[in-house]
Amino acid sequence: MCGIVGYVGKKISIQDSLIKNLKTLEYRGYDSAGVAYVCDNKVEIIKKSGKISNLEEAIDDNLTSNMGIAHTRWATHGDATDINSHPHKVGCVTIVHNGIIENYLELKDLLIKKGYNFLSSTDTEVACAYLDYLKKDIDNNLEVIKEFQKGIKGSYALGIIFDDELDTLYATKCDSPLIIGLSKHENLIASDVSAIVNFTKKYVIVNNLEIIKLTKDKVEFYNSDLEIINKKIEEVNWSIEAHDKCGYEHYMLKEIHEEAEVLRNTLNDYIDVNAFLKNMPDFSKYKKIHIVACGSAMHAGLVGKYIIESDSEIEVNVEVASEYRYKKVFYDKDTLVILISQSGETADTIASLRKAKEDGIDTLGIVNVVSSTIAREVDTVLYIKAGVEVAVATTKAYLLQVAMLMLINLKLKYDKKLINKDELSSSLDMFKKAPNYLQELLNNEDTYFKLASILYQDEDIFFIGRGIDYAICMEGSLKLKEISYIHSEAYQAGELKHGTISLISNNTKVIAVMTDKDVYLKTISNIKEVKARGAYVILITIDSIKEELEFADEVIVVKDINKYLTPMLAIIPLQLISYKVAYLRNCDIDKPKNLAKSVTVE
Ligand code: F6R
Repeated sequence: MCGIVGYVGKKISIQDSLIKNLKTLEYRGYDSAGVAYVCDNKVEIIKKSGKISNLEEAIDDNLTSNMGIAHTRWATHGDATDINSHPHKVGCVTIVHNGIIENYLELKDLLIKKGYNFLSSTDTEVACAYLDYLKKDIDNNLEVIKEFQKGIKGSYALGIIFDDELDTLYATKCDSPLIIGLSKHENLIASDVSAIVNFTKKYVIVNNLEIIKLTKDKVEFYNSDLEIINKKIEEVNWSIEAHDKCGYEHYMLKEIHEEAEVLRNTLNDYIDVNAFLKNMPDFSKYKKIHIVACGSAMHAGLVGKYIIESDSEIEVNVEVASEYRYKKVFYDKDTLVILISQSGETADTIASLRKAKEDGIDTLGIVNVVSSTIAREVDTVLYIKAGVEVAVATTKAYLLQVAMLMLINLKLKYDKKLINKDELSSSLDMFKKAPNYLQELLNNEDTYFKLASILYQDEDIFFIGRGIDYAICMEGSLKLKEISYIHSEAYQAGELKHGTISLISNNTKVIAVMTDKDVYLKTISNIKEVKARGAYVILITIDSIKEELEFADEVIVVKDINKYLTPMLAIIPLQLISYKVAYLRNCDIDKPKNLAKSVTVE
């Protein structure tokens, strides 16, 4: 989604102060980019649709400034054109904006009556004009922003330059992420920390309706009553190398190859030297769980549902956050709502969290980004340690979300006295070996890459599986379609014959996942049904299923360590196949079209 950066400090090149930082936000997804900078006591604007490289080309390398704001836009209101790109300047105000102004049409009417004309179709230009309109009657720029907040409905993170204070950058936010980077004689604003690490590791998280006034040597934080407030300074705990491909051709491949290591790091935080769980809450009081998330995080939740329901004997509903936030939900004090989010900033997941909290329900977050909105607002946060995930398609964070749900399941089982301490320890001992098994699969990537060459020219690929295998199929299918643009569907294997099987014909590719020992014979029957209609079947299974597998055209066998580890192992071939298929189709793997890494608008 949109990205914001802003710089006030030394007179240095725009490329260094703004463009370099903006590039670190490319992974969030965008379709145009722009910059506004102060030069000869004026604000100049350059903006271009398409990649940041288009913008870069339009900026002279020798162009310097001591203050500016820049933006990557992911179109919501109006096409991805130069004119709709940010920054917008109206009268004496220039802004960059993330979020959606919900009452922009109402404000636009008012402003047109006051004589304003609009060049773009964006809500942001309206917000900018509204600030300019307020500025006409108010001298103090903090007061202008305070009044602006009162008149705006919706979400925003804003970087603002007022023509009458060309050495001061202003920022504010409501429901869209914003941080402030602090350095010596240089201060920054950004929508996420990756855009400040070129300059500093010190940053402050901005809360809703706070207003920040930044100059070269000073940063002041104000609450919505314009009282100065003290803020906690945080420190980024990863280095700029996290944004390096480290020799891999794509971030996605690098991140898949990090899976063993990040799993090891995460397990170290939750399993102690005596093979007992640490840093986990007591789950004994819960009788019901709701898992709420979007996309891959929701698919991780589905894997968790199958394991927790069968193992800990407690009902688990998995819900898509964009639905959950608006529907009637049946929960009570015995329900735990688990929100899963890599970024911790997904708008629908945040809204679902707030809904549960308002209703007095306990919430727990499985989150990657430290101090993100979800991490801060849940009652309990369990961090996964994926590190920075740059590729838009999640891989390592998904794997750790699944791992965390497995640990939660074991703790639940223990708290509900379904297993004793020794049984828990022996399961956790196995868990500690999981990174080694993952590594073995990762070392085998050529085997999976070969399968990609069978698939990459197809336009429809089906995934089938039963029970937990269906949950794995959902993620495999999403991974494939989002980066390769091949149409793909995941089906419960037994459901296929109720309609979708009519799409199976000669050489239709079907990927079958069959790791659930309770239902594998049923899955075999379903595979034979598609084979009988001409399908070409790639089967992913486990080594403890001893059946003859000659009915499949290709077979991938993963080790059956135990049921907790299998979903983590089975996803690796699927991630690698998807990667290679997209590669062979020449797709923009790390930044698939229309997608954003962090979906901060609903
Ligand atoms: C797919 C993908 C998305 C995210 C979803 C939720 O590869 O990455 O489906 O899983 O947008 O994002 P987070 O986890 O940040 O809430």
